[in-house]
Amino acid sequence: MIKPISPRCEYLQNPLGIDVLQPRLSWVVAAEERNQIQSTYQILVADSVETLAADEGNLWDSGRVDNNQSTHVVYQGAPLSSGQRCWWKVRLWDREGRPSVYSPPAWWQMGLLKAAEWQGQWISFDTGPATEMEMKACPYLRRVFRVAQPIHRATLYVTAKGLYRLRLNGQPVGNAVFAPDWADYRQRVFYDTYDVTSLLQQGDNAMGAILGDGWYSGYLGWGNRRKRYGDTPQLFAQLNLEYPDGSVDILTTDSGWKGSAGPILFSSFYMGETYDAGREMPGWDQAEFDDSGWQAVRVEKAERQIQLTAQSAEPMRLVQEIKPKSVAQPQPGVYVFDLGQNMVGWARLRVRGEAGTRVQLRFAEILSPNGMVYTENLRSARSTDTYILKGGGPEIWEPHFTFHGFRYVEVTGSPDEADLETITGCVLQSDLPQTGFFECSKPMANQLWRNILWGQKGNFLSVPTDCPQRDERLGWMGDALVFARTACFNMNAAAFYTRWMISVADGQSPEGAFPDVAPQIVSERDGAPAWGDAGIVVPWMVYQAYGDTRLIERHYQAMARWLDYIHAANPHLLRTKRLNNNYGDWVAVDTGVGAASKEMLATAFWVYIVRLMARMARAIGRDDDARKYMELFEGIKAAFNTAYVFPDGRIEDGSQSAYAVALQFDLLPADLRPAAAQHLVENIKARDWHLSTGFLGTPYLCPALAETGHQDVAYRLLNNDTYPSWGHMIKHGATTMWERWNSILPEGEAHPPRMNSFNHYAFGAVGEWLYRFVAGIDTDPRQPGYQHILIYPRPGGGLTYAKAEYDSIRGRIVSDWKIEGHEFHLKVTIPANTTATVYLPTSNPDTVTESGQPVEQVEGVRFVKQETELAVFRVGSGDYHFVAAFA
Ligand code: BGC
Repeated sequence: MIKPISPRCEYLQNPLGIDVLQPRLSWVVAAEERNQIQSTYQILVADSVETLAADEGNLWDSGRVDNNQSTHVVYQGAPLSSGQRCWWKVRLWDREGRPSVYSPPAWWQMGLLKAAEWQGQWISFDTGPATEMEMKACPYLRRVFRVAQPIHRATLYVTAKGLYRLRLNGQPVGNAVFAPDWADYRQRVFYDTYDVTSLLQQGDNAMGAILGDGWYSGYLGWGNRRKRYGDTPQLFAQLNLEYPDGSVDILTTDSGWKGSAGPILFSSFYMGETYDAGREMPGWDQAEFDDSGWQAVRVEKAERQIQLTAQSAEPMRLVQEIKPKSVAQPQPGVYVFDLGQNMVGWARLRVRGEAGTRVQLRFAEILSPNGMVYTENLRSARSTDTYILKGGGPEIWEPHFTFHGFRYVEVTGSPDEADLETITGCVLQSDLPQTGFFECSKPMANQLWRNILWGQKGNFLSVPTDCPQRDERLGWMGDALVFARTACFNMNAAAFYTRWMISVADGQSPEGAFPDVAPQIVSERDGAPAWGDAGIVVPWMVYQAYGDTRLIERHYQAMARWLDYIHAANPHLLRTKRLNNNYGDWVAVDTGVGAASKEMLATAFWVYIVRLMARMARAIGRDDDARKYMELFEGIKAAFNTAYVFPDGRIEDGSQSAYAVALQFDLLPADLRPAAAQHLVENIKARDWHLSTGFLGTPYLCPALAETGHQDVAYRLLNNDTYPSWGHMIKHGATTMWERWNSILPEGEAHPPRMNSFNHYAFGAVGEWLYRFVAGIDTDPRQPGYQHILIYPRPGGGLTYAKAEYDSIRGRIVSDWKIEGHEFHLKVTIPANTTATVYLPTSNPDTVTESGQPVEQVEGVRFVKQETELAVFRVGSGDYHFVAAFA
């Protein structure tokens, strides 16, 4: 028997306010026994939960559909209207044709779909002269309104240029931290939707908002630049009140709102926040508050229509709290807290003292030798929070519109002895569900995996950023490209990347260049190789991990334009023109001799993305295009070989990155691969078995070794703890990934601070290798989204066990191996409605048992073939325990 669990709409659980007109529905098939599949499904969608309970799909009844599709089933019912809530459920039939019960009711709700339905006006409020560093106090806005009759449903649509915190009758609305998410405000804002029915009351109500500069008007990008998009934050809100009789009242931001300055003297992502608790205005967000001292807001002139797009991914939230491990006093009155983890967010402060006392917090990733916080690498980001006490008791405070990347917090000005209760680390991230877990017998590898995960937490901040601490924190595309595969293992990143791709496309130049940074900013010359290529690689990774073809369809034209842009300038099929900011193998170990040639890499990535485009064209049924791109692929590949490959398999500059990409991007004729792999191994050996790759080579290095029979060399790289290696970082106490292999120099001091982040996820791209090639979980690229799973553990490196769990879009996959004497044990979980190919490292297939039985007697396990040291089986869903003889 099977049943549907985890119903999702557009990747989310019961999403509120979506503007996809034909949303896609997915579920996981759960089964009690092995080898189960879904033979048929039926979906019902109704406009009320009661109708659905009567098994009526008055919006859509899919009827019985005889196939095993359990992801991305496109809604094909009646056209949907704004604000409509759609209830749905699904039932399944199993392999034997037995029906399941229906899933419990789930729903989605449409956003506001037509421009004419938006009635609000953009409002702002000038809080007066600048308080510090040209910044002004954060505006507090409020509006009192009457609700005359009982309400059936109240839906609030809200967005800002900048950031908002919204309150209704003294209560917070939602729990997002920096809303709305970052968009290219020149073209678009994302709006959020809330059901606020339970926050309203009959009679007088008050809505209040606090605005912050955020990305819109705050400091953004290096060089002390601010106001990139506009001068001052603005709010846009619309409250739709629906009454039981069907009538509707609409309340919006307009000239009826009032504004005031408040206790937040300024708040900036880079600079920090100053908060004067003495200026608090208790009750300001409630109806009874006396706002006679408040002034009229300014209604902004309607400008060229910018697009209001529904927020379609997990918002940023506070996800975890960390207590300090220790506190030291390197100088009198200077307290330095160690949270034990480089994290992103802020510190909650707990103090007691006299009114007017200023307590200052500074944040740092490492300490100076004298025990003081080291902030040089933050560059112009001041990252300083100041709290001015109101007096009279313990005061607890958190900032509003700033965040810091830090492990250490320095507290000065504290009137009382600071102790471990003074500070709590509050961790912020885009709240994506974690889907991946990895563990093995080497503590250093486990720490590496944790550091990679923390690197992702700290840099999945509305967009995939490069770093979270200095005056940067931008959506660098190259970083995103190299980390995307790992990211999709660690967390379900589908909705996050789907939303970010909107900004990638918004940032495309009229000529077709994808930006280097999305949302597009800072770079005057976009379209760098590998950076711009993220516009193709990220949809490919989302397709691989989640089987999503709609993202491909949505951006197909933009991707084609990027390829045309490159091709037009390079008819000879080597990418030597339109290289723009050709960053090359960023922060590789060598810069001069021995470094990877930038032009060679540019062409290598071009071959790669053209091949991906051909596959994506095929995936969406554009076979002519697929053929065209395959031809182009062959052409560039030939040109690459002529220009950069020698007959003995050596490549151009002989760098590790050259071999890694050539092997992973399928750039070489098959007969040269072993020789090229051998050259790669020689290079590593000549460096005393150390890597030398930068951003562009690192993700492909260990996979290239693994796939050419040199997994042992990959393990040597993993096990190193001398520079350059991942282990070098860990030996020096890293709890996140560093930007540079030598962010701490081998001698123990910090690298010069001009560009030195301790939380940069790019080198964490090795996470993919841990999942795919150590634990051995992968999707079959031809049946993406884990429809067919590859379980291919590659033991070695002295590991006695390794284990990964991955919550795929089709359910949990486990690969858990250990070596016991001369036996290799492999426990596998394959979700129902999927199949897998299992590779066991044994030279003798006759020794293989499953749960104690000779494998040939086990139903659903089929021997496929024996290769050298590898027995290959095909299995259906279920839990398996294989044992094989192991030399
Ligand atoms: C960022 C990198 C980025 C690079 C582009 C740096 O400042 O931190 O991660 O990819 O610029 O070269």
